[in-house]
Amino acid sequence: MRDYLIAGNWKMNKTPSEAKELVKEILPLVKDSTTKVAVAPSFVAIPAVAELVKGTNVILAAQNMADDEEGAFTGETSVLMLKDLGVEMVILGHSERRSIYKESNETINKKVKLALKHDLTVDLCIGETLEEREAGKAEAVCFEQLEKGLAGVSEAELANIVIAYEPVWAIGTGKTASPEDAEAVHKACRGKLAEMYSAAAADKIIIQYGGSVKPANVKELMAMENIDGGLIGGASLTADSFAALVNFN
Ligand code: G3P
Repeated sequence: MRDYLIAGNWKMNKTPSEAKELVKEILPLVKDSTTKVAVAPSFVAIPAVAELVKGTNVILAAQNMADDEEGAFTGETSVLMLKDLGVEMVILGHSERRSIYKESNETINKKVKLALKHDLTVDLCIGETLEEREAGKAEAVCFEQLEKGLAGVSEAELANIVIAYEPVWAIGTGKTASPEDAEAVHKACRGKLAEMYSAAAADKIIIQYGGSVKPANVKELMAMENIDGGLIGGASLTADSFAALVNFN
C-alpha cells in the first residue's frame, strides 16, 4: 500500500547542458511508470531541469540546502532559492555531506525543519559505516540519526518525510547490502519510527534503500516488505539504467 519512490541523486555529475539531455531522454521512458520518480541534479543544473520536468510525473529534488533562510553564507544555496525554482524535495544528511562536509545530526535537523517549514519533502539519509556495521552498531547508528535528524518533527509533518537507508560501505562500491540485510535494518527503522510516532505513521513512511542499486538487483531489493524504493547514484546517470530501475515492476 506504500508507493515506491525511485530517486536519482546525480551528485557532482552532469553539466547543465548534459543534465538537460539526460532529462530529455528519461522523460519518455518513465512517463507511464506506476512508481514515483524524482531526480536531483546539481544546484546549477536545477533551472534547466526544472523547465523540462514541469507538468510531468518527475519530481524535482535538490541534493542539499543551507540551514538558514538567507544571509551572509558565501557559497550556500537557500530553501527560498530552491522553492523559487520549483524544487519539491530535498535530500538531506547524505553520508557524503556527513563525512566530507562534517554535517552533524544537529545541522541536518535544522535543515530538515527548515525544509518542512517551506513545504519541501525531505529525503533524510541515514546509514552506518563498515566499521560501525562490523561492531554490531548498524541499527543503533540509524536509530540515533533518526532520533536526532527528526527531533522536533511532528507526526503530521512526517507525511513529508522520506527516509533513505544508505549503508556507507555500499555507496558507489558495487557492494550492495543483501536484500535480507537491508530488510532487517529497514524493518528495525520502521519499528523505531513507530516508537517515536505511532504504528500508523511508521507504516505509511517510504523507506528507500541506497547503495549500488542497479537494474540487476533492483527487483530482489524491492521485493522486501519494508523497502519502498531506491536512492540511486551511479545507475541514475544514464537514461536506460535509470528508467529500468523506475520501471522495475
Ligand atoms: O544517494 C545515492 C547513493 O549514495 C548511492 O550511490 O552510486 O552506490 O548508487 P550509488
